[in-house]
Amino acid sequence: MSKSLYEHLTEDLKGRLPLHMPGHKRSALLAPYLEGLGAALDITEIEGFDNLHAPEGLLLEGMERAARLYGACRSFYLVNGSTGGILAAMHALSRRGDTVIMQRGCHLSVWQGAALRGLRPVYLYPRFSPELGMPLSLGAEQLSRALRLHPEAKLLVLTCPGYEGALSNLDALVALAHGRGLRVLVDAAHGAHLGILPGFPRGAVESGADIVIHSLHKTLPSLTQTALAHAADEQTALGLAEALDVFQTSSPSYLLMASIDGCLRLIEERGEELSARWLERLSAFRSGAKRLKRFQILDAESPPEGLWGLDPSKLLIGCAGSGIPGRTLGERLRVEFGIDLEMAGPLSALAMTGMGDGEEALPRLLDALARIESGLPPGRLPAAQPLPEAEAVMTPDEALALPFELRQAERAEGLVCAEFITVYPPGAPLLAPGERVSAEALAALRGAQQTRTRSKGRQGQIAVLTGCE
Ligand SMILES: Cc1ncc(COP(=O)(O)O)c(C=O)c1O
Repeated sequence: MSKSLYEHLTEDLKGRLPLHMPGHKRSALLAPYLEGLGAALDITEIEGFDNLHAPEGLLLEGMERAARLYGACRSFYLVNGSTGGILAAMHALSRRGDTVIMQRGCHLSVWQGAALRGLRPVYLYPRFSPELGMPLSLGAEQLSRALRLHPEAKLLVLTCPGYEGALSNLDALVALAHGRGLRVLVDAAHGAHLGILPGFPRGAVESGADIVIHSLHKTLPSLTQTALAHAADEQTALGLAEALDVFQTSSPSYLLMASIDGCLRLIEERGEELSARWLERLSAFRSGAKRLKRFQILDAESPPEGLWGLDPSKLLIGCAGSGIPGRTLGERLRVEFGIDLEMAGPLSALAMTGMGDGEEALPRLLDALARIESGLPPGRLPAAQPLPEAEAVMTPDEALALPFELRQAERAEGLVCAEFITVYPPGAPLLAPGERVSAEALAALRGAQQTRTRSKGRQGQIAVLTGCE
């Protein structure tokens, strides 16, 4: 195999005088904090290191490796996460004012991509588990209905896998949309390991979607912010490349790109072995977890109704039978056992595994769960209700252009929202600009762990349109 970008960075820069950016000059002498942050390998586009926006050399070779691995026509490195890729893909696949059919519960970047293009969103509401309080799969009949009601729709955006690991039948959904002439974008930020590792479910690229986005950093051994965009054909790739020029920095980090390159090489060389090891550990955890009496680990073997498939790498801990909210479980795991979860909500908590987990990780979680449940008094949590469908008064971009004022949340009911009110994790808006603020949305907001709003920093306030009752 040719030399990796990391090897080029560690070997080819020796003795060279950097009279170019960045200003630290690959030295931590002046700034010791840069020592452990990789400044010695942090360069700009100099001769021999290719250019992300016009790749011809080692970066192009890396992107071709990505396309080969995933089975795409062309793949692109992303250095500001799936977020940048999603914004670019939405831009590339739509025209101003188009109708977009998108999954409610999708990541904020999809909504922002829609707002930037002035798109008219139509939402698909995935099935919902009242026991776990989480979205499940999207059914083909839901999409068929939306396609019938909105023959003008031009773009479909799907999230698969979902944040908690729910999979939908992408082959069927993509075929349906393509049959009606829609372009399809799949936000597979959480599924970079799918389709390239034997034993895991099929990946999104195989469904034939026009563009697929993968965060490498979420599940594979790669630095935060690293991701990939895949295009299904040459024409789509040209449009995507143009849009990526708009949405990606003109100073891409070579540290991040070396991480992407290293990650892809690792998968190519040792993917089979590493996948088997990961799956073995997951399977040992799941069989051990069958002994838990109060916590229930979501499993593809006995799926709740409405779950088409599951990414086994996500360990969703159902808390209904334990009598303690997922948030309390998360807190106890953190304080008593030194375990930090990805998400802890009202009815469930999410332990996210990755290829980099050590051997001791999952046995430690299992042991902690067993200890916690052994001391719990009897109790059961009430089931959750899905949010009612939102009432949109206008599109997000129309609302974002209008004057707004800040109101205490409890005085905003019935008014029209002027901002994205986003719940973290997972970063999905509860309300979009232009939607009427419902009592149910306000209740969900009160129950949310963390939110981000335009009025961030002013606890309990939300932005509503002025004079729009
Ligand atoms: C479903 C989904 N899509 C996209 C993103 C954005 O990914 P990134 O953080 O790589 O920009 C996230 C982030 O959590 C996500 O959960």
